[in-house]
Amino acid sequence: MKEIVSPPSPPPLVHNQYESVRQLFSRNVVPSYGRFDLVLSHGAGSYIYDVTGKRYLDLGSGIAVCCLGHAHPAITGALFEQSQKLIHVSNLYYTEPQGRLAAELVKRIGPGKCFFANSGAEANEGLFKVARKFGHDEGRFEILTATNSFHGRTLAGIAATGQDKVKKGFEPMTPGFRHVPFNDLAAARAAISPATVAIMIEGVQGEGGVTPATPEYLLGLRALCDEKKLLLLMDEVQCGYYRSGKFLSFQRILAGTIPNSELRTLNSEFLPDGISLAKSLGGGFPIGAFWVRAPYADLLGPGTHATTFGGTPLACAVALAILDVIERERLDENVRKLGDWMKVELEKLATKYPHLVKGARGFGFMLGLELLAREKIPALATSDKPASIQFVNRMHQAGVLTIPAGTQIVRLLPPLNLKPQEAGEGISRIEEVVKLLG
Ligand SMILES: Cc1ncc(COP(=O)(O)O)c(C=O)c1O
Repeated sequence: MKEIVSPPSPPPLVHNQYESVRQLFSRNVVPSYGRFDLVLSHGAGSYIYDVTGKRYLDLGSGIAVCCLGHAHPAITGALFEQSQKLIHVSNLYYTEPQGRLAAELVKRIGPGKCFFANSGAEANEGLFKVARKFGHDEGRFEILTATNSFHGRTLAGIAATGQDKVKKGFEPMTPGFRHVPFNDLAAARAAISPATVAIMIEGVQGEGGVTPATPEYLLGLRALCDEKKLLLLMDEVQCGYYRSGKFLSFQRILAGTIPNSELRTLNSEFLPDGISLAKSLGGGFPIGAFWVRAPYADLLGPGTHATTFGGTPLACAVALAILDVIERERLDENVRKLGDWMKVELEKLATKYPHLVKGARGFGFMLGLELLAREKIPALATSDKPASIQFVNRMHQAGVLTIPAGTQIVRLLPPLNLKPQEAGEGISRIEEVVKLLG
């Protein structure tokens, strides 16, 4: 292997470019994001630096993306090596990395096939098309999704997402989506109409506030979909790819319910009909994918679905390198062990500071600290910003990146290779910030 160029280190004298970068954005970038006041420049492992040289422990991982942290040599190496061979060819041709990555995903999920896209929203769009194709000849097209779900920002993505705030101003919505309460099997059954063709849920709702599906709900939905001839689609874009401590979130949720559940999924005791992936799949390099179960794997025949950049040799080489590190270093065990420890520590905060912290949510490296409502916390009550955003800002001051969800939840989505002492550092910084609230 050729010498790998190491990630750029900060210049000896770091100037505060904050204001100039901000101005570039305000003049030239569509203001569709509510950004925090940080200009980030480089990272290494679980740490990231801003342009002033300040270091932050990154417990957000770019919203569950940088699964190996920043500037990981396996990713840099794969980018370097593959970019010297072949970055892109059209999907008019075959390439080995795409075929190998598809085989690795199929091996871990179950009999079926994969399609590669560039983002989570696009992976979900593909599953919507699979569902429409499946029901087309019977005139069925409607997909049920959950209240508080999040499925992306494309037109179909916002129609599928069960949150009004993403739809507002973009009506009329793409037809064919209806929302049902999450974890409520009876409501799903009652909502099925003659036009219904599929049900899509997240294994753990992420943007909605770190809410896992219950085992009964998952098993019940599978049975319901079988009974009514519906496809069961799972959006594993955020909660999948080892974030739960298992490859897919439903494997963690069902562990203990179905003994040895990883193996049983392959024997189709519980297997969805379609699964979308993105985020951690590329560790920061954009790639999304959907897997579709064997009986439906050829529904999208030649000419029915495509994307120019889907599954480039470069993206797939990076994804293969990441998968290799995760498995070789048994990062799934790290996520389960450290994640369980962090959850207990967050729960302790709720016991110690019941006037500030309501509880802890989630599992693995998809955790949520639930704060009390802003009005109930005097230190936060005077601002009109949600408690979650104010807390995340205070965490920045304390040198830690976390991600808000909804108005009261602060998400921790650390890299899968987080070290025990980094987890400890994160928890103590969180406690410091909680303490300062009063
Ligand atoms: C569960 C879920 N689905 C889909 C998406 C959309 O993914 P992307 O932003 O890559 O389009 C997200 C993004 O946060 C997500 O959390």
